[in-house]
Amino acid sequence: MKDSFTRRSFIRTAAAGSVALSWLGASQAPQAFAASADKPALLGGTPAHAGGWTAWPQWREDWEPELLKVWRSGRWFRGSGGHVSEFEQGYAKLLGARRCLATASGTTALIVSLHVLDVDAGDEVIVSPYTFIASYNAILSAKALPVFADTDPATLTLDPASIESRITERTRAIMPVHIFGLPCEMDAINAIARKHKLAVVEDACQAWLAEYKGHKCGTIGDLGCFSFQESKNIPSGEGGAITSMSEELIDKCDSFHNCGRAVGTNKGNGSFTRGNNYRMTQAQAVILQQQFDKLVKETAIRRANADYLSANIGKIPGITPVRLPENSKSAYHLYAFRYDGAQFHGMSRDKFIRAMGAEGVPCGGIYREQYYDGLLDEAIASRGFKRLWSDARLKAYRDSFKELKGNKQTCETTVAFTQNLLLSDRAGMDQILEAMRKVQAHSPELAKT
Ligand SMILES: Cc1ncc(COP(=O)(O)O)c(C=O)c1O
Repeated sequence: MKDSFTRRSFIRTAAAGSVALSWLGASQAPQAFAASADKPALLGGTPAHAGGWTAWPQWREDWEPELLKVWRSGRWFRGSGGHVSEFEQGYAKLLGARRCLATASGTTALIVSLHVLDVDAGDEVIVSPYTFIASYNAILSAKALPVFADTDPATLTLDPASIESRITERTRAIMPVHIFGLPCEMDAINAIARKHKLAVVEDACQAWLAEYKGHKCGTIGDLGCFSFQESKNIPSGEGGAITSMSEELIDKCDSFHNCGRAVGTNKGNGSFTRGNNYRMTQAQAVILQQQFDKLVKETAIRRANADYLSANIGKIPGITPVRLPENSKSAYHLYAFRYDGAQFHGMSRDKFIRAMGAEGVPCGGIYREQYYDGLLDEAIASRGFKRLWSDARLKAYRDSFKELKGNKQTCETTVAFTQNLLLSDRAGMDQILEAMRKVQAHSPELAKT
């Protein structure tokens, strides 16, 4: 996979079921298989999977009447109908959150949350570097500095042990990211936040129904942010939400996302606070409302299949499943694992990905070290950032990227495939395992081609 092949373009390709191939053979134990393996598809053999994975996003005809009603009513804006607030109540209930506020997108949910938690120009926010670029951008939009703590390659999430050394007098918040739906170590992160009086914004944009020690992700920090963009496990084209156990914070979010209008406990003296328009439309809400049951059912299927894969992929030399925190459950937006080329006779990760793709199992390397992509150089060279930080701080900030050794390793060794593959049946999972075993068994030849 080329570096420029982003997670979203990868998801689009995988979701379209673009690999239409035929399958031959049944899964076998790894040792037995090594002796009798079929030729890998990349070397002219028959692919392990026939193609035709579940396409994504999905549409159901029985969602149409409610949606048509909204369009025909002319009540499209959240203020002229009840669907958005019904969605908010339903989503809060689903997560066990006290409140929910719907937004236009996951990015706007993050922007609103940071504002409400008083992240201001010149502040610093500690964030996971291993994430979609929107997590960085939301912090930059507040004219704050995204300061990266390191990634734990075993969990792919923020390593709590790397947070405290990054805290300065300007740090206001920590933004853990439940990447691919994998819950972060929230107890340790919250304890650090409490000790240093920092706010916690959970980027749960890929983590609908993920659980950490009996609590749903998005309800554990001060505010949790979700995305319902087209590729997501519960999509509405675009859309987002903020969840919280605090009435007061959600009222503040409501005001800020609705042009600063006074709301609930955030009445002030009745006049406007600062604000923007980050509202969800009625049509987005109607599409989302109708997917709650689907999300619950499909999450259970993804988990059962992911558990099966995780119990088996570790038996293949060079493949390691991701470690989940104790008593937690992933939402599996992507299913990720770690690849060790040394145990595949030096075969590069790109070659492994190509070999798996040829077997009918589209997967990819997902995130690279994005802090070297130019976005942060552009930000810290800007007039505003130069006004807000000293040259010495900005130089030290730029130099600190090379300390992110765990993240570098994570970026170089992770391989993942999208959630729609996990909606297949057990035979589909066996074919994924078979593809991996086949590629492993033939890695000496594959590594040379
Ligand atoms: C981890 C993460 N954060 C934030 C976002 C931003 O969400 P949206 O695309 O809805 O603005 C996404 C979306 O892909 C995401 O994956």
